[in-house]
Amino acid sequence: MKILVTGGAGFIGSTLIKSLLKNQSHSILNLDALTYAGSLSALADVKNDPRYQFAQIDICDQPSVAKALYDFKPDWILHLAAESHVDRSIENPKAFLQTNVIGTFNMLEVARRYYEDLSGAAKHAFRFLHVSTDEVYGSLGKDGLFSETSAYDPHSPYSASKAGSDHLVRAWATTYGLPVLVTNCSNNYGPYQLPDKLIPLAILKALTGEPIPIYGNGDNVRDWIFVSDHVDALQTVITKSNIGETYTIGANNEKTNLDIVNCICILMDEIKPNPNGAPYSDQIQFVTDRPGHDKRYAIDANKLKNELGWEPSLQFEEGLAKTIAWYLENQEWMDNITSGDYQNYYKEQYG
Ligand code: NAD
Ligand code: DAU
Repeated sequence: MKILVTGGAGFIGSTLIKSLLKNQSHSILNLDALTYAGSLSALADVKNDPRYQFAQIDICDQPSVAKALYDFKPDWILHLAAESHVDRSIENPKAFLQTNVIGTFNMLEVARRYYEDLSGAAKHAFRFLHVSTDEVYGSLGKDGLFSETSAYDPHSPYSASKAGSDHLVRAWATTYGLPVLVTNCSNNYGPYQLPDKLIPLAILKALTGEPIPIYGNGDNVRDWIFVSDHVDALQTVITKSNIGETYTIGANNEKTNLDIVNCICILMDEIKPNPNGAPYSDQIQFVTDRPGHDKRYAIDANKLKNELGWEPSLQFEEGLAKTIAWYLENQEWMDNITSGDYQNYYKEQYG
């Protein structure tokens, strides 16, 4: 398959590309604007692979997207490019509307025209997979799970913009017959995630001896999935699903934020004890809560399991240990991130 991946220089997109390229029959065009969140360093291993190409393009630039798409002639589009950080969406919502809503609209328009021109087997094979988030469903109380039938109720500018993009994707299917798929996944973690997200931030702060910030009292719950399990699920959906379907993706790993940070601190106490002898948990600091902070996310992924046979492969403890080990072995990557383009945002956010 010829596969166009948008946002392929991001955390999930780069993991997806490396996984797709393990299949010798796939070739990839990575279309990414390289915002503060995009880094080609995660793709160093594949950059010389003749089946991999990169194009620095903003998805809001419709003519450039169209040219890239018509030149490459993909069988599938996996659309991941987005502004993805909730806190950043609270500071600067406009960039989220621009990329997540207008950018997705551009991708759909170009894909629709391209699809209309296809015929035969190419038309039959074509798919547009829109990668979205569980945050579109809002917040759960103590009980219950998000599933494909949950009502949309987004609360942050990020989740509202992703909800808007999900609706656009489905509208392009209904109105123009574009063969789309939508996935809504829970919180990812793993190597190459930027330290504006909780898990890498806690690891970084532990290592630098700074306070580890926990919003509110730390009892908000997230449902964590290792990034390669998400990436496997996406490949399962695009190869096996019927057109028009939605799947919620998760790995049954509900944890409070305080539990997550404590797990990180305990593992780091074992793997790399603090030179000053104190437990890393001493660095935990409760800080002002995120405005509109959703209380609890949790996913029912039974549709994906029952219909397509997908199940997560990694237990949380194993995934977290792998993640911490990766950050400890790749401190240079983290140093480059925090001293490069990312620095301004990082400084602004975390001092
Ligand atoms: P990320 O922020 O790490 O990467 C986003 C990528 O998109 C970056 O490479 C960035 O350069 C690129 N990008 C941003 N704006 C662009 C634009 N206008 N044009 C082209 N490229 C642009 O995000 P991620 O965590 O890898 O998430 C990828 C997708 O998965 C997003 O759509 C996100 O909503 C979704 N998602 C993420 C999670 C998660 O926990 N990280 C969970 C569920 C769904
Ligand atoms: O649920 C899926 C979503 O998960 C994705 O769609 C988003 O792209 C991704 O960023 C993530 O959103 P969250 O807001 O849940 O992730 P974040 O890592 O920013 O925060 C996780 C939890 O930790 C959340 O409850 C807020 C809290 N938190 C976060 C930071 C950065 C803290 O307590 N302290 C922090 O410093």
